[in-house]
Amino acid sequence: MAVTKEQVLAALGQVAAPNGGSLTEARVLSDIVVSDGKVFFSITVGAADVKAWEPVRKRAEDAVKAVSGVASALVALTAERTGGSAAPRPAAAVAPQRPAPHAHAHPAHPADKTQPGIPGVEAVIAVASGKGGVGKSTTAVNLALGLRDQGLKVGMLDADIYGPSLPKLLAIREKPQTIGGNRLKPIERYGLTVMSIGFLIDEDTPMIWRGPMVMSAITQMLREVEWGKLDVLVVDMPPGTGDAQLTMAQQVPLKGAVIVSTPQDLALIDARRGVAMFNRVNVPVLGVVENMSYFLCPECGTRSDIFGHGGARHEAERLGVSFLGEVPLHMTIREKSDAGLPVVATEPDGPHAKIYRDIAAKVLAAMKGGGRAAPKIVVEA
Ligand SMILES: Nc1ncnc2c1ncn2[C@@H]1O[C@H](COP(=O)(O)OP(=O)(O)OP(=O)(O)O)[C@@H](O)[C@H]1O
Ligand SMILES: [Mg+2]
Repeated sequence: MAVTKEQVLAALGQVAAPNGGSLTEARVLSDIVVSDGKVFFSITVGAADVKAWEPVRKRAEDAVKAVSGVASALVALTAERTGGSAAPRPAAAVAPQRPAPHAHAHPAHPADKTQPGIPGVEAVIAVASGKGGVGKSTTAVNLALGLRDQGLKVGMLDADIYGPSLPKLLAIREKPQTIGGNRLKPIERYGLTVMSIGFLIDEDTPMIWRGPMVMSAITQMLREVEWGKLDVLVVDMPPGTGDAQLTMAQQVPLKGAVIVSTPQDLALIDARRGVAMFNRVNVPVLGVVENMSYFLCPECGTRSDIFGHGGARHEAERLGVSFLGEVPLHMTIREKSDAGLPVVATEPDGPHAKIYRDIAAKVLAAMKGGGRAAPKIVVEA
């Protein structure tokens, strides 16, 4: 029998809040997401009360896990800041495990030597964009496959909690198995080791995750997945320069970031923001990819620069970061990508696969060379 929200609420009604009343009466619960036996929700309390609530969070998680049919429960404790700075909440200030947020907390420095890597994973790179829909996930998948073709053992993490793409782009429908109770075994596809929050949540589950939940989910996917030995883990980032990006920068030493942009001016402004964000957290930008760069007519082979192609190359030069290559807007890329048949894997001899492989070779060279912009992380060869 499928678990219902009511069953979860009934279990939570038995958990005591610090003031003595029940958790369900304390008006601290977010909406409760129940999907396929997995339960997610957050408890939001004042920053000063976090210490008192942490044991409640734990008890709530245990109570939910005890409900028959519940496979796993993830309860995040969210601290609501009151007063203080009028600035938007920096991601570091709301990390669930940081009970005493600073009003102007600066993101942790990823180059900090004390920051632990992921055991077995040599390098982590992020594929990011300032704006959504520029083809970041498509690029990330084909770049990962291109790196695979360079002889590397490659993993992919879908950090887009709000709109995970990897289940679709890699046609993965199976659920990851659990190892030893609390670690997840990633899925293997096309020689890539893959993990996505989308494997755990149904596509049509409403995404009510809030910043701190995003962070704890990403942390879990980085640290509680049996990645095995990987030369590189390619992370498909959600669009923008928000919580998830900063979490990544804080959670693991990122070797670098690849920024995807379309050639239009507006997208380029966002790409600029992306570059600036990674510079700010001391992550080298490995380069910029111009996606949907030009249109190649499938019938006549004529090339049209529908968006005024070349913008990303100029912008990369202006920002002092490498230009990694241009990918045409092409029906094959779209169709293959959306069918879970990425071109590099399924049409390896085609023109598009070659473009992605060339980009992958440049990315690899940049990883070894440290990237041109903000090469503040010393990269070991
Ligand atoms: N070079 C291309 N040629 C044709 N279609 C493309 C190309 N790149 C991406 N697409 C298509 O554009 C759409 C958006 O791509 P994708 O999902 O990779 O973007 P995204 O930047 O990851 O989006 P989001 O911000 O939603 O995560 C998809 O349908 C994809 O197949
Ligand atoms: Mg995407």
